[in-house]
Amino acid sequence: MIGIDLIEIERITKLKKRFGDKALLKFLSPEEMTLAKSDATAAGFYAAKEAISKALGIGISEKCGFMDIKIYKDAKNAPSFTLSRHLIEDYNITDVSLSITHDKGFAIAVAVIEGKKETRQLWH
Ligand SMILES: CC(C)(COP(=O)(O)OP(=O)(O)OC[C@H]1O[C@@H](n2cnc3c(N)ncnc32)[C@H](O)[C@@H]1OP(=O)(O)O)[C@@H](O)C(=O)NCCC(=O)NCCS
Repeated sequence: MIGIDLIEIERITKLKKRFGDKALLKFLSPEEMTLAKSDATAAGFYAAKEAISKALGIGISEKCGFMDIKIYKDAKNAPSFTLSRHLIEDYNITDVSLSITHDKGFAIAVAVIEGKKETRQLWH
């Protein structure tokens, strides 16, 4: 399952100007906020969460809130994420991947979620 999302970094800048850093707590945990030092990184994390919810096919919703997704960085600064246990179990998730980029005022994220699915017909 794959999901993609794009966000204008200025949306984060404006949000912070209006409401301060705590505005980010609407979609980031305190741990994620310490990683998201720049507006570009925070925008990337926002795009990542939307992309992940799209990969699940449900969007940010009651079943998958922003806090059901936790983004972290590995030792090489590559992003990845964990999900609430109910999502892992409901979707039989076996692996996840995430890629983020930002340039020219935009941040883009692509998420891939692998799981054991029922066999379906892929040929026509
Ligand atoms: C990692 C790298 C590919 C990022 O590419 P970039 O064009 O600089 O920046 P992009 O906007 O496309 O991507 C940045 C995002 O990539 C992600 N990223 C960083 N390191 C990564 C890695 N090792 N693997 C996968 N993704 C990585 C991060 O999410 C980062 O954004 P964030 O830190 O704000 O969350 C690039 O910096 C690189 O190759 N670095 C290693 C070599 C190097 O440092 N060369 C510099 C001298 S030539």
